[in-house]
Amino acid sequence: MRTAGFLSFVLAALPCLRVASAGCRVVSRGITRDLLLRGTVITPEGALPNYTVLVQSGKVTYVGDSCGLGTRARDASHIECADSVISPGFINTHEHIEYSTVRPLADIGELVDHRHDWRVGARGHTPRYAPVNGSKVEATRWGELRHLFSGTTSIVGGAMVSGLTRNLDYVAGLEDGLVAPVALNDVFPLDDADGIMRNGDCDYGPEPMNRETAGKLHRYIAHIGEGLDAEAANEFACLSNMTFDNMPASDGGGLSTDLIAPNLAIIHALGLSTADFDLVAARDAQVVWSPRSNVFLYGKTLNVTYLLEAGITVALGTDWLPSGSATMGREAVCAASFTEESYGMTLEPKTLWEMMTLNAAKVAGFEQDLGSIEVGKLADIVVFDGQAQGRSDMKHQSDAFAQAIFAPAENIELVLRGGKFMLASNGLKSLSTDTCETLAFGNVNKTACVADELGSSFKEFEASLQGVYPAILPAVPPDEPSCELTRCYPTTQNQCSIEDHFTINTQQVLHR
Ligand SMILES: *[C@@H]1O[C@H](CO)[C@@H](O)[C@H](O)[C@H]1NC(C)=O
Ligand SMILES: *[C@@H]1O[C@H](CO)[C@@H](O)[C@H](O)[C@H]1NC(C)=O
Ligand SMILES: *[C@@H]1O[C@H](CO)[C@@H](O)[C@H](O)[C@H]1NC(C)=O
Ligand SMILES: *[C@@H]1O[C@H](CO)[C@@H](O)[C@H](O)[C@H]1NC(C)=O
Ligand SMILES: *[C@@H]1O[C@H](CO)[C@@H](O)[C@H](O)[C@H]1NC(C)=O
Ligand SMILES: [Zn+2]
Repeated sequence: MRTAGFLSFVLAALPCLRVASAGCRVVSRGITRDLLLRGTVITPEGALPNYTVLVQSGKVTYVGDSCGLGTRARDASHIECADSVISPGFINTHEHIEYSTVRPLADIGELVDHRHDWRVGARGHTPRYAPVNGSKVEATRWGELRHLFSGTTSIVGGAMVSGLTRNLDYVAGLEDGLVAPVALNDVFPLDDADGIMRNGDCDYGPEPMNRETAGKLHRYIAHIGEGLDAEAANEFACLSNMTFDNMPASDGGGLSTDLIAPNLAIIHALGLSTADFDLVAARDAQVVWSPRSNVFLYGKTLNVTYLLEAGITVALGTDWLPSGSATMGREAVCAASFTEESYGMTLEPKTLWEMMTLNAAKVAGFEQDLGSIEVGKLADIVVFDGQAQGRSDMKHQSDAFAQAIFAPAENIELVLRGGKFMLASNGLKSLSTDTCETLAFGNVNKTACVADELGSSFKEFEASLQGVYPAILPAVPPDEPSCELTRCYPTTQNQCSIEDHFTINTQQVLHR
């Protein structure tokens, strides 16, 4: 057949194509919606240059150097992304996505020791409210757009809309044939929403999570120990030690339990000691890390190097817009810079990338289907142009992992969710459909294809919200909460260092 012969000629010529300009371009248009992508592919084995990925019917069906591809890609459109980096889409393991329209909280110069200090104004602290403009459904939709437009294709976010990003904590939010069970995302495992803090017993609310229920869950992702003080540490004791409190409270609850198991991921875990983390490691439980929100609210975050050396699976999450990062890329920037500047430790871009992909899929319980570019997995893929500059972390500019995790949205070439075009650079516009629209990302235009899932164009939706925090962000988002060390524990008169928070006297804490 003439056509097949011509196409196999094109494919045979593939390894020799050289493209001068950065970014992606369509080399040939296929007769199906299948895609053949070529560039530096980040796989679990490393970043492999000149690699190809075949996407058929929304799944990855081939990853390799294209030698063994044969004629399998003959019906696919071929996209050449010479200097670009092809990564699995990011998985955000912690969001409160309903708050996505608010502006970040102003820095009032007040650091707190426990989440209830700011949540409900406990112990004389200023309560910090984040009132949502408009409906929470609209805010959720807006948040999913912001994350999708910055390379995140799945979220554990406590709320969902259908379409846009996958929602790994909702059966109805999985998209593209991904199937349950989903993760249970719990903000108050101790039933302490009212602001209950304890030290020495477990007399929280009447209906805390129990061992039997938690044990049956596919994944249990729970806030535990969000704070630096004894009250935060107490939360872990109540959920990890059967004998810590065996006196029931009169209104129900009151008992300690032990939930530390492989299906558990602890969100924040700021109040845990190194011995606690040793238990987490021994039990194969996991940790969700949200450094920016930790640093902004409490002035410090985990010494994640300790967790990694202990063998704990750590995944990144943005927490929420008011005190956290607006995108996963900004969370990665904070994670790297805080670890370097405050702990003097280096976090390799590859390690951070794992926290945003492979580890995150494991934490959410979808490692069979998501988190890497491998045959049989869903084609949640983000292509970065590999040209991001400016950060000190970009000292290894040729590091494909750094180019993926630190890149601003402007440097994104393509976002696929289940093989579907969600966002594409102008070079790929010819593959978009008429429901796609042009949007400005800084100085470049991109094509967004979200109207069918959004129910309106992005521009119409944006206009209907009448002035909310943007979904398309510059390299450094406006009013971004600080990720710099603001709390210091004085060792000598003029020097600060981070000390183990269990050994410091809180009276010594220097507030700005
Ligand atoms: C990619 O393949 C081309 C053509 O075979 C070759 O010239 C180039 O050096 C390769 N690039 C890398 C980074 O291996
Ligand atoms: C568990 O709690 C009991 C009672 O407070 C205490 O004696 C014991 O040391 C705790 N175990 C661990 C591992 O912390
Ligand atoms: C952080 O953890 C690493 C690895 O265990 C350790 O070497 C380092 O001293 C820790 N830093 C602090 C400030 O605790
Ligand atoms: C982006 O698109 C707008 C129209 O939507 C056009 O006016 C503008 O020139 C484009 N900019 C670039 C850099 O192509
Ligand atoms: C959201 O709230 C801010 C601050 O109160 C206000 O300036 C803005 O107009 C509000 N936007 C909407 C859509 O209500
Ligand atoms: Zn949270």
